[in-house]
Amino acid sequence: TRPLKVALLGCGVVGSEVTRIMTTHADDLTARIGAPVELAGIAVRRPGRVRAGVPEELLTTDATALVKRGDIDVVVEVIGGLEPARTLITTAFEHGASVVSANKALLAEDGAALHAAAEQHGVDLYYEAAVAGAIPLVRPLRESLAGDKVNRVLGIVNGTTNFILDKMDTSGAGYSEALDEATALGYAEADPTADVEGFDAAAKAAILAGIAFHTRVRLDDVHREGMTEVTAADFASAKQMGCTIKLLAICERAADGRSVTARVHPAMIPLTHPLASVREAYNAVFVEAEAAGQLMFYGPGAGGAPTASAVLGDLVAVCRNKLAGTTGPGESAYAALPVSPMGEV
Ligand code: HSE
Repeated sequence: TRPLKVALLGCGVVGSEVTRIMTTHADDLTARIGAPVELAGIAVRRPGRVRAGVPEELLTTDATALVKRGDIDVVVEVIGGLEPARTLITTAFEHGASVVSANKALLAEDGAALHAAAEQHGVDLYYEAAVAGAIPLVRPLRESLAGDKVNRVLGIVNGTTNFILDKMDTSGAGYSEALDEATALGYAEADPTADVEGFDAAAKAAILAGIAFHTRVRLDDVHREGMTEVTAADFASAKQMGCTIKLLAICERAADGRSVTARVHPAMIPLTHPLASVREAYNAVFVEAEAAGQLMFYGPGAGGAPTASAVLGDLVAVCRNKLAGTTGPGESAYAALPVSPMGEV
């Protein structure tokens, strides 16, 4: 069988782990997919700053030329941010490539248009890595729970802020000290404002609400409050009440079933609740569905290797689809349900 060719866009914390796993697990990936996968090129902005172990001969600074090559089967986008990621993904679709993306900001902003473009060109758009790092959540919601009716998705979806809140609570660390540590560990966004002001969690809430409730929710629809104003005194009061503080994302279907809401804000969590024991950069998400009842998804929510695990899972799935001449569930799986981001439920 001819090898499937993969173009990697971005080679930072996540991209370098994707490269490492693709190289070291090449035989396993070939066996899982049924054909070899070959890394055909890696687009980076600054080739001199790429981590050790990344094959230098594959590096290019011309991402556009790479996605336009015409022989690329799958583009893996781990650049983040709206542009140039959006244009590169669209160009990849136009050239017949499926896309695996970890880009929550872009999917929350433009998921509908991107899904439609993928569908129009008969290719896949997969993005398990965009939400909650290594935790399988996007495909369970899109596929495993597709026959159930999800009423609520609630949990911790940002590793950086959970890391900071955990350090503040358990070791009395200061906010900026804890943020520096989260950045050094590769959890924080390039601009950590996205984490601490709740934009990253809001983007993930928008994506989850969209998939869970078969509607379209955008970043602007999500009520958002970050965690920058949480103080040591707040933790002291929480403790007196037998609680801790977590940044939660909450997506709910209105009782009348006609609208959905999504919001992100710090919340008091009783120490007896499972969410209270989510430490460091772990994430945990509860999904409540009519027939299934309550499900809990838990695991590493940020960082290079965990996020790369989700990217690789998607890569295997889209490669299998390519070989089978099919695509996964697309935009047509969505039905229009009005969004009322501030509505009471
Ligand atoms: N900055 C994000 C977080 C990375 O801390 O959760 C994973 O999406």
